[in-house]
Amino acid sequence: MSVSDFVVVANRLPVDRIVGPDGEEEWRTSPGGLVAALEPMMRRAHGAWVGWPGQADLHLDPFEIGGIDLIPVPLSAQEVTEYYEGFANDTIWPLYHDVIAPPQYHREWWDAYVEVNRRFAEAAAKAVAENGTVWVHDYQLQLVPQMIRELRPDVTIGYFHHIPFPAHGLYAQLPWRDQVLRGLLGADVIGFQRAQDATYFLTAVRRRLRYEVKGAAVTVPFGDGSTRTAMARAFPISIDTTPYLELAARPDVRARAAEIRESLGNPSRILLGVDRLDYTKGIRHRIKAYGELLSEGRLSVEDVTLVQVASPSREHVDAYVHLRDEIELAVGRINGDNDTMGHTAIRYLHQGYPREEMVALYLAADVMLVTALRDGMNLVAKEYIATRADNRGVLVLSEFTGAADELRQAVLVNPHDIEGLKNAIMEAVEMTPKEQSRRMRALRRRVLDNDVSAWSSAFLRALDEVHPH
Ligand code: G6P
Repeated sequence: MSVSDFVVVANRLPVDRIVGPDGEEEWRTSPGGLVAALEPMMRRAHGAWVGWPGQADLHLDPFEIGGIDLIPVPLSAQEVTEYYEGFANDTIWPLYHDVIAPPQYHREWWDAYVEVNRRFAEAAAKAVAENGTVWVHDYQLQLVPQMIRELRPDVTIGYFHHIPFPAHGLYAQLPWRDQVLRGLLGADVIGFQRAQDATYFLTAVRRRLRYEVKGAAVTVPFGDGSTRTAMARAFPISIDTTPYLELAARPDVRARAAEIRESLGNPSRILLGVDRLDYTKGIRHRIKAYGELLSEGRLSVEDVTLVQVASPSREHVDAYVHLRDEIELAVGRINGDNDTMGHTAIRYLHQGYPREEMVALYLAADVMLVTALRDGMNLVAKEYIATRADNRGVLVLSEFTGAADELRQAVLVNPHDIEGLKNAIMEAVEMTPKEQSRRMRALRRRVLDNDVSAWSSAFLRALDEVHPH
């Protein structure tokens, strides 16, 4: 395989492995958030993508799909446990999401993280053409920028952080806090979702490494006394709006939305939650608020149904196992207390769905509930808005999402405040069509004018300014 001028490095390859009934296997592009964000640009640039194929001990040769060269990085079963489930998702993930769950600090996990980051960096350094560009993504790979720089000083390196970056008081817990900052500072541009994340990062750099920081620019010293500049600032990510607009206009998808309403007993209002089953998403808070509205008689199952899609995620990590138990207990209790033969309080679906079905659900939903306790951006909020071409529907949105910085016409909530959340749900359920339309128009303008290609262009422009070729 030839070298590429543009290489993306992310924990996962943008494909799913499908095994047919006779054991034959096939790879299909997967519809995840990060993939949806980068795929259009990758196709245009005929880039390469370095990533894990999603299964332990799977050794694959590079292959091409849809005009993108895919370069698989294998992980052993032990590395999946220590690097992916351990350091990435049981140390960094909870720490960076404001310790909603307690982060676990284990030295063996750190060692695995360093080793796997080096493997990704070596694969990227091999794949990129002279003076090319490498764009590293997310918290699983924070050491990769500096590792690539050491191997390939000729290339331009970008890094985008898709999740929050914590305040210094929390970040300081990390036993390897200085190494991680140095790893990230290997990039020419370090992008964050919110201005707040960039500020927290720059504060950590100033306080821990004592590097000079002026505005968004960090002066990074080399050992020999010379310096280079790294920039850290916000680039709020978005979605590729085109498939959502197209699907929302398709007669079969619209018919499916009507069928969903019908099969729920034609309630006057459908509330919807769509999340990975993750403790950062505030699913418990949402269900608690809704359950109380039912038991207080402010809502009735004859009129209202909550559809909660909770897609399975990180199922071997203890905190996720416990969360699933808690949510399923709460859903069972609320349904047991409130269901009638014809109507259910919560239609709970622990499954993932294809994009068509998700768009049908968005079209069927009168109220979208995004109540995350912490979320880098939350693309579900933007997907819902993109599908609402008739300007109907209400978005209830947590202040603790990156999306809340942009989507000011949503009904903004603090999900920790259960009374406030209940009032926000009632406000959404009772909102007049005129008010819905006033808000949705403004939200749609924001999302349609700032889609993912605007995001990637802004990031790549910044990269070009710092490191012009
Ligand atoms: C978040 C992260 C992504 C990650 C995704 C799914 O959105 O920012 O980097 O890929 O969750 O999580 P998973 O552990 O299944 O890759």
